[in-house]
Amino acid sequence: MRKYHPNIRVDQLSLYWTSRHGERLKKGDQKAAVCTDCHGVHGIQAANFPKSRTFAWNIPQTCGRCHADADYMKGSGLPTDQVAEYKQGVHAAALYEKKDLSAPVCNDCHGNHGAAPPEVTSIVYVCRQCHPSAGDLFNGSPHRAAFDSLGISECEACHGNHKVVPPSDEMLAGGSADTCIQCHDAGSKEHQMGIALKQRLDEYVAAFQNVSEILRQARKKGVEVGEAEFRLQEARTALIHVRNLTHSLALSEVEKTLNGGAEVIEEVKGRGEAALQEAKFRKEGLVVATVFILLLALALYLKIRAGGAEKSSPLPRG
Ligand code: HEC
Ligand code: HEC
Ligand code: HEC
Ligand code: HEC
Ligand code: HEC
Ligand code: HEC
Repeated sequence: MRKYHPNIRVDQLSLYWTSRHGERLKKGDQKAAVCTDCHGVHGIQAANFPKSRTFAWNIPQTCGRCHADADYMKGSGLPTDQVAEYKQGVHAAALYEKKDLSAPVCNDCHGNHGAAPPEVTSIVYVCRQCHPSAGDLFNGSPHRAAFDSLGISECEACHGNHKVVPPSDEMLAGGSADTCIQCHDAGSKEHQMGIALKQRLDEYVAAFQNVSEILRQARKKGVEVGEAEFRLQEARTALIHVRNLTHSLALSEVEKTLNGGAEVIEEVKGRGEAALQEAKFRKEGLVVATVFILLLALALYLKIRAGGAEKSSPLPRG
């Protein structure tokens, strides 16, 4: 290959033999994917060509030709729901709706040729490649050691793999989305922590929405609140930060960040209420001014009329 394309990698075949597909083929399983199944025969195209079978948004179909075909996969013992599940998740939404090519498709997590993508020792750690901050916080939590010793993969336990749904506060407590209850007994101190986190977040969100509404009303009444709205963004940032911080299971850190945000909310609330007061004052002022102007106009009218009457009467001559 050096003669034609010195930069291209030449390890595809050796990597292929380490993959499940290669392993199966070696054992004589004719159903395992070979080079032509993923690249085509005559129509081979580079992966960055949008019509290529290996271009990001065509990959689910390339893999799904076998993996979504229950008849074909019969005997492998593997489920055939990966493509269907993937299409319902946040990553497919980012890829197909937002056209975000940085969202993962099958090969980003499973690798192209090898058993696992480069620099990833195991698919278990694949999520943190793109979500490093959640990964770091998780590492600092008591779950790190616990999950390792139980052999549970770090992110999958709560988020799943193919159908990753949009995360919500409900994942912390109560309802069908509760993740903690999967492993911790209802009423245990760990489950109580989930409930406490959810409660704090609920209160915070309610306070935030209340202030947003005050600002919205003030703006509707014509008072300038742009600066207050800008300041409120800090409280929103704190919320985003805290939702990530839940991975650390550090209640005190969560409290600290939320308290900082709550101070901002209080301050902006003060400004918002002052803005509403100003709107009220302006309205009352307008009424007073209107009445005053009307009275003035009336006085003028009467004066002009009186003046006209005087003019029409003949002036007394001396
Ligand atoms: C399970 C599907 C699959 C199989 C089987 C497969 N490939 Fe690939 N291959 C891919 C994907 C996906 C890419 C594109 C990666 C990307 O997005 O850049 C790729 C990329 C390539 C590239 C471009 C350079 C590179 O490594 O990124 C070459 C060359 C290549 N494959 C050769 C082969 C050969 C030779 C075989 C058989 C030994 C093979 N492939 C088997 C899926 C496959
Ligand atoms: C030509 C059909 C075919 C295509 C195309 C194909 N696969 Fe496979 N795949 C198989 C078969 C068959 C197996 C082996 C099942 C078994 O263990 O018996 C397999 C195994 C796998 C496994 C191992 C699952 C496990 O837990 O044992 C993964 C992961 C996988 N494929 C991912 C992919 C990805 C990702 C793509 C697309 C880039 C793809 N496959 C394309 C047929 C295919
Ligand atoms: C965001 C990462 C990610 C994406 C994208 C992804 N997978 Fe997976 N997949 C995983 C993880 C994690 C596992 C579980 C592996 C384990 O527990 O050993 C898995 C398991 C599998 C398995 C084994 C059987 C099973 O269902 O558990 C197959 C086959 C598979 N994936 C195929 C696919 C195909 C086809 C696509 C594309 C439609 C895809 N995967 C997309 C991460 C991903
Ligand atoms: C190749 C990079 C990549 C990999 C690997 C990856 N993700 Fe993502 N993830 C993304 C992108 C891009 C988005 C979309 C972000 C957006 O739309 O704002 C996303 C979105 C998410 C979201 C939604 C975030 C939100 O705030 O709505 C969650 C949860 C998520 N991923 C979890 C996972 C899990 C769990 C895994 C592993 C099984 C994983 N991701 C693997 C890139 C990746
Ligand atoms: C113990 C359960 C659990 C585990 C394990 C877990 N998460 Fe989460 N994750 C959550 C919960 C709960 C939320 C939502 C918090 C909220 O919205 O209040 C969340 C939210 C997210 C979000 C969206 C918020 C943000 O940070 O932008 C991403 C992305 C994410 N998780 C990625 C990961 C990754 C990557 C891993 C593995 C390193 C992981 N999670 C492990 C429970 C978990
Ligand atoms: C996949 C299973 C699993 C899930 C899901 C899970 N945990 Fe855990 N968690 C564990 C295990 C195992 C331990 C270690 C228990 C031990 O050492 O006694 C642990 C430990 C903890 C600890 C530390 C307890 C201590 O004494 O140090 C807290 C706090 C905790 N979990 C809270 C949560 C919360 C909150 C959720 C939901 C967001 C959650 N966990 C979801 C399995 C899980």
